[in-house]
Amino acid sequence: MDNKTVYLNGQYLPLCDAKISVMDRGFLFGDGIYEVIPSYSGKLFHFQDHMERLENSLASIRLPNPHDRTQWLGILTPLLDKNLDQSIYLQITRGVASKRDHAFPENIMPTVFAMCSNIVPFESLNSGVKALSVDDSRWELCNVKATTLLANILLRQQAVEQGCAEAILVKDGYVTEGAASNIFAVIDGILITPPIGREILPGITRNVILELAEQNNIPYSEDIISLDALRTASEIWLTSSTREIVPVVQLDDEAIANGKPGPIWRTMNQLFQAYKQSDHE
Ligand code: PDD
Repeated sequence: MDNKTVYLNGQYLPLCDAKISVMDRGFLFGDGIYEVIPSYSGKLFHFQDHMERLENSLASIRLPNPHDRTQWLGILTPLLDKNLDQSIYLQITRGVASKRDHAFPENIMPTVFAMCSNIVPFESLNSGVKALSVDDSRWELCNVKATTLLANILLRQQAVEQGCAEAILVKDGYVTEGAASNIFAVIDGILITPPIGREILPGITRNVILELAEQNNIPYSEDIISLDALRTASEIWLTSSTREIVPVVQLDDEAIANGKPGPIWRTMNQLFQAYKQSDHE
């Protein structure tokens, strides 16, 4: 096993020594939330935005935040290597209870775990990927970054088994997001992404792209997108902290435009690459 240093409940220790109880509610129920925070050259990307989303996720599941933002920064920074592009995985569960009961136990300490991995550039970034549209079978709190990801896992797996890199989720005829990404489409020359709400995770990458579109006069709108409209798009992108901005060149059995990543993706990807290496925030 990889022996990198991880953080668990106040201690830094080798990954192979990081152990939690089988009574941890994260293990028994998926009763926890998480964040994935990229770090470029040792600087956490949009740290305050990730903290705000973490605070919202914790509040939504009624789990008190064990640390303030300064303490979180202090906990995560020692895991980073200043010479590498990396991403932090941070998970907080409700903690270890003495018996398995769905209702919240009283007076327990949350479990806090963080680890860091090197970012490996997504191999299909420049050629684009295939995506599969599937029914969005998830719950109604998709804005919460919950560790309970069984629906997302099954949907992504369904896509992978059909040779696709991602599942595009569709609720009542409208696209919501990917199984682990947000979605953008270029329709009639306008960059569109579904609005923030309980149907999607408010992606940090999504937000950066909207800011870059605003600053660079790329016409954009936050609006609903029907699956029928998506099929007419000249470009489709999937965005996330780990894969960044991935162009979709085939949806189900149909090529998107000429089956190659589009010009607006090329522009946005260049803007994003420059921005992430700049001294943002
Ligand atoms: N997932 N929507 C879902 C359902 C996601 O799981 C993710 C990211 C996003 C994009 O959010 P962001 O731009 O903040 O990464 C949207 C992470 C990477 C994961 O689960 O590993």
